[in-house]
Amino acid sequence: MRESSLRICTSSNLSIVEFHKGMKINDLDLRRWKEYDEILTDSLWIFDRRERGLTRSGEYHGNFIPQIPRQAILRYTRKDEWVIDPFAGSGTTLIEAKILGRNSVGIELKKENVKKIEELLSKTPGEGRHFVVHGDSMDPETFNLPYKCFQLAILHPPYWKAIRFSEDPRDMSNLPDLQTFLEGFSKVLDNTLRVLDNGRFLVLVIGDIYDDGEVIPLGFLTMDIVIKRGLKLKGIVVKNIEENRGKRNKISLWRYRALKNGIFIFKHEYVIFFKK
Ligand SMILES: C[S@@+](CC[C@H](N)C(=O)[O-])C[C@H]1O[C@@H](n2cnc3c(N)ncnc32)[C@H](O)[C@@H]1O
Repeated sequence: MRESSLRICTSSNLSIVEFHKGMKINDLDLRRWKEYDEILTDSLWIFDRRERGLTRSGEYHGNFIPQIPRQAILRYTRKDEWVIDPFAGSGTTLIEAKILGRNSVGIELKKENVKKIEELLSKTPGEGRHFVVHGDSMDPETFNLPYKCFQLAILHPPYWKAIRFSEDPRDMSNLPDLQTFLEGFSKVLDNTLRVLDNGRFLVLVIGDIYDDGEVIPLGFLTMDIVIKRGLKLKGIVVKNIEENRGKRNKISLWRYRALKNGIFIFKHEYVIFFKK
């Protein structure tokens, strides 16, 4: 039996009896289900704008909107539980976790981001313990973390070479070909699954890309890898946001390119939900 399936997490609010009877994986009270308007249950998420305020600057190119980790945290964790994000970026997940009174660990390869996240966290109102680790999430050694037992994992990897995040060869946006990128993703996934509790959720946020006029369906390819690890696919959400930093002010150019090359302008990304 794998080590993770033997482990009962000390961070859980549940007693061992409750754990075996059926885990409660959020703080929602279903007797009050009509009151939870902010929780999205449709598979199409259309956001007209990024949620701002507090320490959510939105400046990091390639970040996701805070609404995404927020939805996942509210739906799949209880207060005081632990969230891991192996591609922390600008720390959006950690900031939402703090606001919502969860604990979190983020891993990020870019050293300068680590300091920035810590600064943002120090200014963010909220609760919990939050750690930012500098390292390569493909490397199992990086997962010798200050905390080792998580109830939610949020993975927002580079969409391969769509945005180059650094010059570091370990940066997944620098991996030389699609096969190597998918192998890199698999390594991060396996490292993450070792610290994710059974019965809990993993959320993958990813978009497709064009390469040489051809769609590379990163969403489907990575989703397939997770399913092959034995996780249950619980939801495929298509998310749209109008205010896309990369494409803002360039709409006409993109439309011209689309018409000229017989392609379509990406407006969506996937938020894919799995249960371990
Ligand atoms: C799509 S961004 C994540 C953005 C994040 N969700 C946010 O809202 O700011 C992907 C991040 O993964 C980081 N990264 C790339 N390769 C990595 C690796 N091997 N280990 C850890 N982080 C990596 C990049 O530096 C980048 O910040």
